[in-house]
Amino acid sequence: MRLVCSLHAPDWTFDEDELRRAFNPKTRAIIINTPHNPTGKVFTLDELTLITELAKEFDVTVISDEVYEHLIYEPAQHIPIASLPDMFERTVTIGSTGKTFGMTGWKLGWLYGHPDLIQGVWQAHQFIVFATSHPTQVAVAHAFNHMDEQYYQSYRMLYSGKRQHIMEGLSQAGLKFAEPMGTYFVMADFSPVFDGNDVEFATYLIQEIGVAAIPPSAFYREQDKHLAKNYARFSFAKHDDQLDEAINRMKRLKS
Ligand SMILES: Cc1ncc(COP(=O)(O)O)c(C=O)c1O
Repeated sequence: MRLVCSLHAPDWTFDEDELRRAFNPKTRAIIINTPHNPTGKVFTLDELTLITELAKEFDVTVISDEVYEHLIYEPAQHIPIASLPDMFERTVTIGSTGKTFGMTGWKLGWLYGHPDLIQGVWQAHQFIVFATSHPTQVAVAHAFNHMDEQYYQSYRMLYSGKRQHIMEGLSQAGLKFAEPMGTYFVMADFSPVFDGNDVEFATYLIQEIGVAAIPPSAFYREQDKHLAKNYARFSFAKHDDQLDEAINRMKRLKS
């Protein structure tokens, strides 16, 4: 059985009791994602520590999706949960070339963790994915051996500028949002400029304004969809002239 602990607006944190209720003696594994898509939330040390305490208390494996580990904005810090005390042995951490090297769509990633856990991953991989593109693997191995800290810094700078750009545009358009601390997504509350739910807004935005955003209720289970009903997820992984054009078009939302 799958239990979910939802993130809540405006700062996309979780409720401690709700998290505790998601654990029970039958819990085998927990999946977490930080920095988080769609909210741009980066989990703090306190939040991660609580998760580790519960994981240890209930002897649970942690599957930690950290594909946006390098896309974080000051003052946020990405803390791999496997780096916290006694967590390496129970954590499988996931990374992505798509997100780390700006080649989304190429679908190549990696995992690391204790050999006992990775053994299980190998077995699953053999029967689910089986193979990936070998030339891309060679290219990524080359990237790992040749990229230095400067690459990651300039990558963050690039997206930091785009983040600033879209935040200004969304504010001008009259939308409200919490600054995303990681990823290249921002969740914006459109209720000041549109009367309707997130699917209606996304449809209106595409058809009438010419800008695409994701209705984030798609990320929530049925009973939690209301948590996202005033929000749209915008991606700022776009060329600056595309961002300019989208911002320009969205000025019409206010009129
Ligand atoms: C949180 C998260 N995990 C994993 C993935 C998948 O990454 P990839 O495209 O490298 O397979 C995505 C892609 O959007 C994502 O947002």
